[in-house]
This record gives sequence, structure tokens and C-alpha cells, in this order.
Amino acid sequence: MTARIRRALVTGASAGIGAAIARELAARGVEVVLVARRSERLRELAEELATTTEVLVADLADPTGRDLVARRLASVDRPVDLLVNNAGLGVYGALASQDPDRIRALVEVNVAAVVELTRAALPGLLARERGGIINVGSTAGYLPGPYSAVYGATKAFVRSFTEAVYEEVRATPVHVLLLSPGVTRTEFQDVAGVPEGVFPPALTGTVDQVARAALDAFAAGRPVCVPAAADRVVAYGAQILPSALTRRVRASVMRRYVA
Ligand SMILES: NC(=O)c1ccc[n+]([C@@H]2O[C@H](COP(=O)([O-])OP(=O)(O)OC[C@H]3O[C@@H](n4cnc5c(N)ncnc54)[C@H](OP(=O)(O)O)[C@@H]3O)[C@@H](O)[C@H]2O)c1
Repeated sequence: MTARIRRALVTGASAGIGAAIARELAARGVEVVLVARRSERLRELAEELATTTEVLVADLADPTGRDLVARRLASVDRPVDLLVNNAGLGVYGALASQDPDRIRALVEVNVAAVVELTRAALPGLLARERGGIINVGSTAGYLPGPYSAVYGATKAFVRSFTEAVYEEVRATPVHVLLLSPGVTRTEFQDVAGVPEGVFPPALTGTVDQVARAALDAFAAGRPVCVPAAADRVVAYGAQILPSALTRRVRASVMRRYVA
């Protein structure tokens, strides 16, 4: 399936999982459109990649930034075959003490951007009968997340939305994949203010593992990719166990770290 991907657009390509996916795509011969706010980081990555790249500086928390990227996705000039909705952020702590502006940005980037960019990309993909979309969720999307309530809910949204769109286009040559990584070593934890000790290093994956697993799963036409085996136990276990149990266990673990 990736054989027919000539050009991909990756949001959140200035760091972490997005930069790793851009590198892995370029290594597989795919041209990449790099999207994020930090232009310097994007330009450095563009210089490093062997394939042709474009840099699109956009703030996805802002409707103007989302429109800019949506127009690029809808463009018939140098069409984009693969959209990777990866940009995202988290906010940790009790909801009552969280900054309302950060919560707003979280919902705009993790939810509004994913919906609007998926909607912008799909008509061209369906008309050209090729390519697809990878939406980055999280294992956090499989169970209620006390003390990261908004983040977990945005990822539950991404999961439901992506699996639904997967079914809508299933009979076409266009493929949609939900990528649900577990804890991965990136800038995410610092940006989100994750308390020290919440995620033990032994359970933390690398961005290269996530990027390779995602592109292999897309190529294989799978609907969902949870890269690490231990995370698959969490994701699938959470679908079997009652949420009264999973949310209480999660709350009691998190309460130890959150003041
Ligand atoms: N790391 C984990 O443990 C983990 C686990 C599961 C799922 N995920 C998901 O994986 C995705 C990537 O996370 P990561 O771990 O790679 O985090 P990261 O290292 O913090 O990178 C986040 C990326 O998102 C971009 N971004 C944030 N706000 C943006 C905005 N307003 N407009 C445009 N771009 C924005 C950042 O670019 P700029 O700051 O330059 O704009 C950056 O490139 C996210 O969706 C996250 O929820 C991460």
C-alpha cells in the first residue's frame, strides 16, 4: 500500500513521533510536507531528509493555521497521498486546576485539527483512488483518564472517529489507520507537565519503533496499530474490563503523583 504513496503530509513533524515518521517515510522514498509551529526545527529536518520536502508553518490551535493546511491537502498541484495527523499535546493534573487556555489548545489540536484535516484530505484521496490517513491516538484513548481527563477524552475521540472513518472507506482503495502508541520517549511529557515517576523508563518505547510499526501497519492495511506488546494488553484489556474498575485503578495510581 505504501508503494503508491508518493507524497505525505505530517503534522507535528518538528519533534518526537512526527519527526520519526517523517524520517521513516523519507527513508522509504516518500516526499514529505512538514507541518508544525517551530519553523527552524522543520527547516533543519527538511535539510536532513534525502527526499524532496516542503515546510508549512502552521498553528493548528488556530482556525487560520488549520485552514492553511486544509488548503494544502485539497490542492491538486503536487497532491498529498498520505496525511499523518500526529500533532498533539497533553495536560496533566486535576481538571479544576488546569489552565483554560491550555485546555482549549489541547482540544483544538487533538480534536478539531484531526477532524478538519481528515475531512480536507478525503475527497482528493477518494477521487485519486490511492493513499490514506494515519491518525495518532494513544493507549490513553482506551480508558477514562483521571488527572489527564481532557487528554484521555481527546484520544478516545480520535479512536472512535478514526475507526468509524476506516469503515466508511473500507471498500475503497483509500486506507485509514488508528495509531495508538503507549508511553514513548519525546518532549510530550515535559510539555504536558507529567509528574516525575508516572511512566517508568522500562515501559517507555522509542519513536523509531512507533514510526516503523505505524508505516508497516498502514502498508499491511490494518485498521489499528498499538506498537508495543505490553500496550496491546492495556488497550485490549481495557475493552473487556468494566470501566468502573479501570478508571478507579487509573485514578489511584495517578493520585500518588498529582498533588
Ligand atoms: N509521547 C508519548 O508518550 C505519546 C503516547 C501516546 C500518544 N502520543 C501522541 O503522539 C503524538 C505526538 O506526540 P509526541 O510524543 O511526539 O510529542 P512532542 O515531542 O511534544 O511533539 C508534539 C508535536 O506536535 C506539534 N504541535 C503541538 N502543538 C501544536 C500546534 N498548536 N500547532 C501545530 N503543531 C503543534 C509540535 O510542534 P511545534 O511545537 O513546533 O508546533 C510537535 O511537533 C501526539 O498526538 C501525542 O498525543 C504520544
